[in-house]
Amino acid sequence: MGREAASAMARWFVLNDFPVKPELLAVCDLNESLLKWYEQVPTCKLFTTDYKKLLSDKDVDVVYVAVPHNLHEQIYLDVLRSGKDLLAEKPFGIDLKAAKTIYDEAKKLKRFVRCSSEFPFLPGVQRMMTEVKSNTFGKILEIKAGFLHSSDLDPSKPVNWKRQVKTCGEIGVMGDLGMHVVHVPFRLGWKPVNVYAQLQKIYTERPDGKGGMAPSDTWDNATLTTDVSIEGRMVPMTLEMKRMAPGETNTWYIEVLGTDGGVRYSTKEPKTLWTFKRGKEQSWNKTDLGFQGQFPTITGAIFEPGFPDCFQQMLAAFVAEREGFLKDKFSCVTPDEAFLSHQLFEAALRSQKSKSVINL
Ligand SMILES: NC(=O)c1ccc[n+]([C@@H]2O[C@H](COP(=O)([O-])OP(=O)(O)OC[C@H]3O[C@@H](n4cnc5c(N)ncnc54)[C@H](O)[C@@H]3O)[C@@H](O)[C@H]2O)c1
Repeated sequence: MGREAASAMARWFVLNDFPVKPELLAVCDLNESLLKWYEQVPTCKLFTTDYKKLLSDKDVDVVYVAVPHNLHEQIYLDVLRSGKDLLAEKPFGIDLKAAKTIYDEAKKLKRFVRCSSEFPFLPGVQRMMTEVKSNTFGKILEIKAGFLHSSDLDPSKPVNWKRQVKTCGEIGVMGDLGMHVVHVPFRLGWKPVNVYAQLQKIYTERPDGKGGMAPSDTWDNATLTTDVSIEGRMVPMTLEMKRMAPGETNTWYIEVLGTDGGVRYSTKEPKTLWTFKRGKEQSWNKTDLGFQGQFPTITGAIFEPGFPDCFQQMLAAFVAEREGFLKDKFSCVTPDEAFLSHQLFEAALRSQKSKSVINL
């Protein structure tokens, strides 16, 4: 993810008339061969395996931290205490306790902190939110959102830090994929009042890459059935986070259905927006979207956006908000939203254990 951020900054000139230009000045990674990759970045002057060196660099204003979840708390706190602002990665601490500590410190020190979640910056998701806000859906019937992967279906896929509780966290797949799923619903004001969780562990060990096997002890799949309160009524909202969803490579989707209208968007059809209308007849309409991110770019309006584009739009939103010119444009995940996501995931663990509905 560090290299994605470097790439987004390196092609900053694609953004039209964007008044601030972030530059990558320093990079830290324990992996020396990765550090070598960053030597291609002309503005980068510090390459280190010791993040404290990066934090003592006076020219660095903001640090983007993308490390395994067990390191979030310590490194995020050190960033904040070094006087720098933070673009954090999900899940914003390995668990609820870590998230609260980071949240409190950011507030106390008044640092600008946001958390990464790039899919909402795709034009299709922006349009989907505009449709919801148009208030033409009648009574909302249900909301479904999810983020689906499938490479873990292969039992010969080696274990890594995301598949072990000690490095990924007890929340497992929810920590890995969950922030992506909740960002838009939370922002639309849909905050679960309760949760019933179905969590699954499928393969409990995997090749360790050295000829043996190692425990793979995190939750692989999570389905959270929740209620949200909309106009005084309880509305079911289902949130799916799955590492084992057959055929789904990196599918982010959302569907909102109402009595009069609805909307559906999935990265499986990245330029397609589906909208439902109930008129004399009922119809689903399919609209081809182009390249309309919220920050205009040199790219022609008919072209297709992809992952690097929404990541860059997210970074632009971070910079614009920090500099005070975001206005009413969509922003990155706030510390409040990140903390709320941890409250939800912690409640989901309790629900799984007790096989009951947990109130939030
Ligand atoms: N926003 C997204 O779409 C997205 C996608 C993938 C991962 N992530 C998040 O990004 C973070 C990193 O995930 P990843 O997939 O990039 O993992 P990764 O394993 O590919 O990279 C982590 C990097 O951290 C380095 N590292 C580990 N300990 C370090 C230390 N003490 N000091 C400096 N560097 C250290 C490792 O050498 C490695 O290069 C996680 O929080 C993950 O949830 C976000």
